Amino acid sequence: MRSSHYILGALLPLAPLCAAAPAESVSVPRHATVVDRRSVLSNYTFVIAGGGIAGLTLADRLTEDPDVTVLVIEAGPLDQGQDGILVPGAYAPYYYFWPNLATVPQEGLNNRTIAAITAQVVGGGSTINAMVYLRGDVDDYDAWGALGNSGWSWQNMLPYFKKAETFTAPDAAFAAAANISWDDSVRGHAGPVKYSYPNYFYPGSANWWNAANEVGLPPVKDPLAGSKQGVFWIPSALEASTMTRYHAKRSHYDRVKDSRPNYHLLTSNVAAKVLFEGKKAIGVSYLSTTANSTVCPSKVYAANEVILAAGGFGTPKILQLSGIGPKKLLNKFGIPLVEDLPGVGQNLQDQPTLSVPYTCELTRSFTANVVPNYGSLLSNATFNAEQRALYDSSRSSAYTLVSSLSSNIGVVSLQKSTSSYQQIIAAAKAHNAADSLPADVDATVLKGYKAQRTALLKQFASADIGVGTVHWGTADAALIYHLKPLSRGTVNINSTNPLENPLIDFRTGTDPADVAVYTALFRKNRELFAAPSMQVLGPAEAAPFGADLTTDEQIAAAMREVINPSNAHQCCTAAMMPRDLGGVVSSEQKVYGVQGLRVADISAWPFQLSGAPMATVYASAERLADMIKKEYCLAGAC
Ligand SMILES: Cc1cc2nc3c(=O)[nH]c(=O)nc-3n(C[C@H](O)[C@H](O)[C@H](O)COP(=O)(O)OP(=O)(O)OC[C@H]3O[C@@H](n4cnc5c(N)ncnc54)[C@H](O)[C@@H]3O)c2cc1C
Ligand SMILES: *[C@@H]1O[C@H](CO)[C@@H](O)[C@H](O)[C@H]1NC(C)=O
Ligand SMILES: *[C@@H]1O[C@H](CO)[C@@H](O)[C@H](O)[C@H]1NC(C)=O
Ligand SMILES: *[C@@H]1O[C@H](CO)[C@@H](O)[C@H](O)[C@H]1NC(C)=O
Ligand SMILES: *[C@@H]1O[C@H](CO)[C@@H](O)[C@H](O)[C@H]1NC(C)=O
Ligand SMILES: *[C@@H]1O[C@H](CO)[C@@H](O)[C@H](O)[C@H]1NC(C)=O
Ligand SMILES: *[C@@H]1O[C@H](CO)[C@@H](O)[C@H](O)[C@H]1NC(C)=O
Repeated sequence: MRSSHYILGALLPLAPLCAAAPAESVSVPRHATVVDRRSVLSNYTFVIAGGGIAGLTLADRLTEDPDVTVLVIEAGPLDQGQDGILVPGAYAPYYYFWPNLATVPQEGLNNRTIAAITAQVVGGGSTINAMVYLRGDVDDYDAWGALGNSGWSWQNMLPYFKKAETFTAPDAAFAAAANISWDDSVRGHAGPVKYSYPNYFYPGSANWWNAANEVGLPPVKDPLAGSKQGVFWIPSALEASTMTRYHAKRSHYDRVKDSRPNYHLLTSNVAAKVLFEGKKAIGVSYLSTTANSTVCPSKVYAANEVILAAGGFGTPKILQLSGIGPKKLLNKFGIPLVEDLPGVGQNLQDQPTLSVPYTCELTRSFTANVVPNYGSLLSNATFNAEQRALYDSSRSSAYTLVSSLSSNIGVVSLQKSTSSYQQIIAAAKAHNAADSLPADVDATVLKGYKAQRTALLKQFASADIGVGTVHWGTADAALIYHLKPLSRGTVNINSTNPLENPLIDFRTGTDPADVAVYTALFRKNRELFAAPSMQVLGPAEAAPFGADLTTDEQIAAAMREVINPSNAHQCCTAAMMPRDLGGVVSSEQKVYGVQGLRVADISAWPFQLSGAPMATVYASAERLADMIKKEYCLAGAC
């Protein structure tokens, strides 16, 4: 049976080649809110596709109104509360990686094919991520607004950052000794998402901190206050009283489930397509994640709206399968066009990751490194057992740090990374933007990309926006993240079968400015390791890098062999921008050209932030929930 005949739809007069799904009886669960296929109602006020950070936040907020019913359809299962999920020091994200996901050969990375990581579990990324809880900087949101998204700015986001969260301050004496600082006025104190700080640091992290200060990266009072050029402790999405992960399942499902018979969660099922009546989204077809692909999907209807929250890979896939996307792509697969939106699946971005190893050879040794360090957990069983026992008995040990990370991190602007930042910006301005996109790019998408470049090059020139992150886990490798790439990739379906993965092409390193910026970040990290406070530890850069690599060309060539195009921060594939700029959703996150359909997740971002995504996904879902409540007069909103 050819999968391209696998066309579904509420009103399409096609004889499905799949076998009809077994008839399902309808019974309303009164208490339990995890529903199975049999107990899914035929219709809800809202149907949400994807139960990750955005999906669960919205489901929680919309079901505050008892007259609203919400179904969340989530591809993954509930986590089992494993140590690897809940205990930071036992971090094991791979339990819930989306299966068999990989990039196509990356032309900017010597044609390497790389595993693509995203979550498939209730809570999405929040269940398996590294718990780094950061906001973007002021101009991140202001620049999104300036792209034509009215109402988007740092000022408008700040109340939602606070509404989303509850910060628990660390012990004051520990904070003072450890250099943890914050500004209570920018932090939330009554919201669902709990976060705090670990209560342990490796001694080497002080060397790194001081070395960073020595190369012009000063301590930052509060990285969540809208600017974070310098070094700071990493806020972590953990519950301080138990020192365990506080993911969206806990904050936006467990917290409310007993009081919300109107909140239904269907796990281990994929949303296949949005169902339309003309241009109005009326429901979703879905099927078991492990279904025999010859089984027909079931259907569920949404009285008010369908909300897509399936993440940076999942949301564009659902849109394309539903007939919303680039006409050429949909024609190729015989998918009836509902709306020609060339931006769907374009504009893919992530925050590439580079690990720079350091040796422990005798001659060029790092043997002076202080112990214990992160490596001690792996190499010293006594230390590991001791720290685990301390964690179990008093919640106080190295196990409060996310495994492989240390306690502090640095963010650098381009100015701080290199004295030749103006040359990099001038070269990027002179570069023909069209050369950085696939040859067959739509004119509106190109126009939008040009607008993004203008905004991003302004940020490159600013002392207030980071383009990269530096980190040292205190053992044998430094990590460098590239926060603000100009390269743009694509996510396109490769089949009409909703159970098949899309083609993922990050196109990392295809824009020449990205290589120049990453090289500058590499050199900044090298400078930091050469500063006196790190030099006392005797670090030596190891293969594929090393002191013998001196020119930019040599460094760039070595980087192309090892850069990971992703930090699992994939975004921006259904971008919020005006339609004539290739945008997919309006500033209210409504999909252009149709009714009753929104995108709630990270897909709607125009471009990456100067930080990690999680806190912004929570906050923007809070904001969207308020917009929707107002529009439908829910929960007393009008
Ligand atoms: C390993 C890892 C480490 C990370 N580390 C950090 C970090 O330390 N800090 C940080 O800020 N960010 C981190 N991130 C990124 C962050 O978690 C994501 O950016 C964030 O979760 C995105 O939120 P979202 O709601 O857009 O999507 P997600 O949280 O990814 O949720 C999307 C959900 O939709 C489901 N889904 C997909 N397709 C379908 C479908 N067709 N039908 C039904 N369900 C579907 C998925 O299973 C998933 O649960 C990390 C991510 C990963 C995977
Ligand atoms: C929605 O469900 C209710 C109760 O389950 C039912 O009475 C109603 O007819 C349904 N509406 C539609 C449009 O299917
Ligand atoms: C990558 O593959 C393309 C297409 O096959 C080829 O033209 C190019 O030379 C390859 N690049 C490298 C560095 O191998
Ligand atoms: C904290 O900062 C002080 C002063 O700069 C420095 O001496 C100390 O080593 C730092 N400690 C840590 C854990 O960063
Ligand atoms: C899938 O369903 C078809 C048709 O009912 C059946 O012939 C086939 O054996 C099933 N395959 C699996 C793996 O269950
Ligand atoms: C291993 O850890 C134990 C307990 O912390 C410590 O006493 C010992 O010195 C460590 N051994 C080495 C080689 O670092
Ligand atoms: C894309 O589809 C083609 C044709 O069905 C198949 O051969 C190929 O393996 C698919 N690619 C991926 C990455 O799934």
